[in-house]
Amino acid sequence: MPITKRGIEVLRDPSLNKSTAFTEEEKQALGIVGLVPDVTESEDLQLSRVMMQLGHKTTDLDRYVYLVNLLDHNETLFYRTIMSDPARFLPIVYDPTIGEACLKFGHIYRQARGMYLSITRRGKVKDILKNWPQKDVRFICVTDGGRILGLGDLGANGAGIPIGKLELYTACAGVPPQYLMPMYLDAGTNNEQYLHDPLYLGMRKTRPKTEELYSFVDEFVAAVQEVFPKCCIHFEDWTGSDAVHLLGRYRDKYCVYNDDVQGTAGIVLAGMINAARIKGTKLSDEKYLFLGAGSAGIGLANLLCSAMAEEGLTLKQAQSHVYMFDINGLLETTRKDLFDFQKPYAHKHAPTHDFVAAIESIKPTTIIGVSTVGGTFTKEVVETMARLNERPVILALSNPTEHAECTPEQAYTWSKGKAIYAAGVQFPPVQLNGQTFLPGQANNFYIFPAIGMAIFATQAKRVTDQMFIESARAVADQVPNDLLKQGLLYPLQSNILETEIQTAARVAKLAFDAGLARVDRPTDMVSFIRRHVYKPMYSSAASAKKAA
Ligand code: NAI
Repeated sequence: MPITKRGIEVLRDPSLNKSTAFTEEEKQALGIVGLVPDVTESEDLQLSRVMMQLGHKTTDLDRYVYLVNLLDHNETLFYRTIMSDPARFLPIVYDPTIGEACLKFGHIYRQARGMYLSITRRGKVKDILKNWPQKDVRFICVTDGGRILGLGDLGANGAGIPIGKLELYTACAGVPPQYLMPMYLDAGTNNEQYLHDPLYLGMRKTRPKTEELYSFVDEFVAAVQEVFPKCCIHFEDWTGSDAVHLLGRYRDKYCVYNDDVQGTAGIVLAGMINAARIKGTKLSDEKYLFLGAGSAGIGLANLLCSAMAEEGLTLKQAQSHVYMFDINGLLETTRKDLFDFQKPYAHKHAPTHDFVAAIESIKPTTIIGVSTVGGTFTKEVVETMARLNERPVILALSNPTEHAECTPEQAYTWSKGKAIYAAGVQFPPVQLNGQTFLPGQANNFYIFPAIGMAIFATQAKRVTDQMFIESARAVADQVPNDLLKQGLLYPLQSNILETEIQTAARVAKLAFDAGLARVDRPTDMVSFIRRHVYKPMYSSAASAKKAA
């Protein structure tokens, strides 16, 4: 794209700024001679300076703040940095550091990123969306801060989440950053601490009634269709019931998805497919007990049942393989406090508030922690699972780290090395009795960026559950047998871009097959995806010359 800006404006635009890497020709053409040091550094040299400066930081939060600042000044160098070593940088720009960054969002805030729209702007949403500088927006990641990670209602402090999530679209799957818009819908917060914090950046009001919130979201979703007709809306970190209800409200009408519901389901399904591969079974041979029946749990249960149905079960049969336990005990038919979407998983069973007793009676082969509460997979839970199963599958998915239902060390030690384990966050390998165990990270970042890339490239009209099942299969297929043997359920993060390109290609094929794509079908799906991948490289001097 030719550069139309000149002088200091070029340096102030993070998508154009090359800082110390402008050539003499570019400096002359852009009128920036004297405004930057009189050198022309290579991108590698710039990267080594960033690495050196990062090396001087003592905490991940400091590294996060440094990287956000880099993004504010030089987008290419930011992506070059995080894409150079995803396994190292993903935990800094996203989970688990993002949790701490959100808790302190108003305190570490430097510069606006994305849009902030409060419920007091009702009736004017369309006009406000037009203030966004980019006219072709393809993804809006939107939260109301209702349930941020496992940290609860963080209100405006949750604005860090859509920012981080969209960075992963680019870093993990190469979706070009100029098409991405983070969005915080401010409907207040019930978090007393923030309501009294002078540096809090949101409305100082408690949350409205559900109908009022939903009518605001209705206006927002409708306005997006008009202002950005090719845009897909990604809902993120709403409370469980809002997440499920809003997804149901829009999914058949618009291009929307909810990552907590569908992305989580996709990545956990990938892990389950590989756990079954290790055990030599099928998904429909297993029995599942969830701890937590919120948006993540329900989304996963629904997708898992669709996948079991594809193995030949009826939906009812598939649902009979899935049990759930929440804060009020086992979901069973006499419970009067269940949401409609939880009822398919409430089976005939005596009421119980004792998770271990539920395991003894139901005899699950897999337990899945999506409860938000750390330590809930106790020694007794793991030992019971190991007594009932040759290879118990234990997925402790709540995050951030201290919210994991159990650590890999606990799962492997308490099960005497029998557990097949994955967490929602990254844990280091565990040594036990001379064996190395590789705990997988069931992180959605293997799924949603790849789905995003497929939608971006195909301009798909809808996001379907089949896309999440297909992406789960594609992710699972990319774990080599030798790593599977060490218990690894997910591909290595060091190669994440290539993994996601392959996954996106399979999802794109599905979009074409289902008639959802709005572009011509290519002959080779992988090279089609590659053509759309963003590369963190400066544009050439030729563009600068043209502008001159
Ligand atoms: P949610 O708030 O919608 O649901 C939480 C559920 O846990 C509710 O059913 C609640 O009744 C239950 N619960 C709470 N305390 C409990 C206790 N002591 N014992 C049993 N059940 C209890 O939250 P959501 O969206 O379902 O997320 C749950 C967790 O999953 C969060 O920590 C989130 O960070 C994590 N998550 C992990 C992902 C991943 O690893 N890929 C992706 C999305 C979410």
